[in-house]
Amino acid sequence: MKIHLAPSILAADFWQLGKQITLAEEAGARYLHIDVMDGDFVPSISFGMPVIASLRKRTNMLFDVHLMVSDPERYIERFAACGADIITVHVEACRHVDRVIQQIKACGCKAGVALNPVTSLHTLDYIIGMVDMVLVMTVNPGFGGQEYIKTSTEKIRRLRAWTDELGIKMDIQVDGGIRKDNVHVVLEAGANVIVSGTGIFTGNITRNVYDYLEIFAKYRNRKA
Ligand code: DX5
Ligand code: ZN
Repeated sequence: MKIHLAPSILAADFWQLGKQITLAEEAGARYLHIDVMDGDFVPSISFGMPVIASLRKRTNMLFDVHLMVSDPERYIERFAACGADIITVHVEACRHVDRVIQQIKACGCKAGVALNPVTSLHTLDYIIGMVDMVLVMTVNPGFGGQEYIKTSTEKIRRLRAWTDELGIKMDIQVDGGIRKDNVHVVLEAGANVIVSGTGIFTGNITRNVYDYLEIFAKYRNRKA
C-alpha cells in the first residue's frame, strides 16, 4: 500500500503557519493532519473551522481532520464544509459510531475512526468494512511531543493481519510519538499513514520531510 506522511500542524509555529505548511507541501507531503481539540474529550483546546477554512483557500493538500471532540456528530457537516477531505472521529467519543460514519460519508468525505491506546480492536468488529481508515493512537490524545506507547506496535500488527485476512485494503494511520528513529517500527507493523508533529516542525521542515520520505521508499515494495 502507498505510504503517506501526514504532518501535524499542532507542532507548527502558528505565526508562520502558512509558510511552514508550504515548506512541507513543497518537500512532498500530500496529507495535512489537523488536530481539533475541544477541552472536553481531551484536556487541551486547539483550533477549529475558521483556521481550516483559511488554509483551504491556499493549499491543495489532503485535509486529514482528527476530531478529538465529544459527540462529534454535532460538527461533521461544518468540518466538511470548511474543507476536510478525511474526517476521523474517536469511537470513545461517539454514542452511535455507525451513524456518524454514515454522516461523514454523506458529506462526501472519507471516514476514519480513531482508537485510544487502551481501546480494543474489538470495537471495530461491526464497522471494519465501512471505514476508509483506522487511526491507532500511539499516545494518549491531547498533546504533541509525547513518547510512543510501545504496546501500540502489536495492536497495529494485529489490525493489519485482520484487514489482510478480510482482503480489505484499509489505511492504518498512526499518531503520536513517531520520529525518524522509530518510524520503522510502525511501518514494519503495517501502518501506512504516518502522522508526525514535532518530528516535522522542529528544525528544518524540508529536511525532515525528505528524511521521512526516504525511509518510506525502503518499504514501498512490501506486500500490499
Ligand atoms: C495528539 C495529536 C497528534 C500530535 C502528534 O493528540 O493527535 O496528532 O500532534 O504530535 P507528535 O508527533 O509530536 O507526537
Ligand atoms: Zn492527531
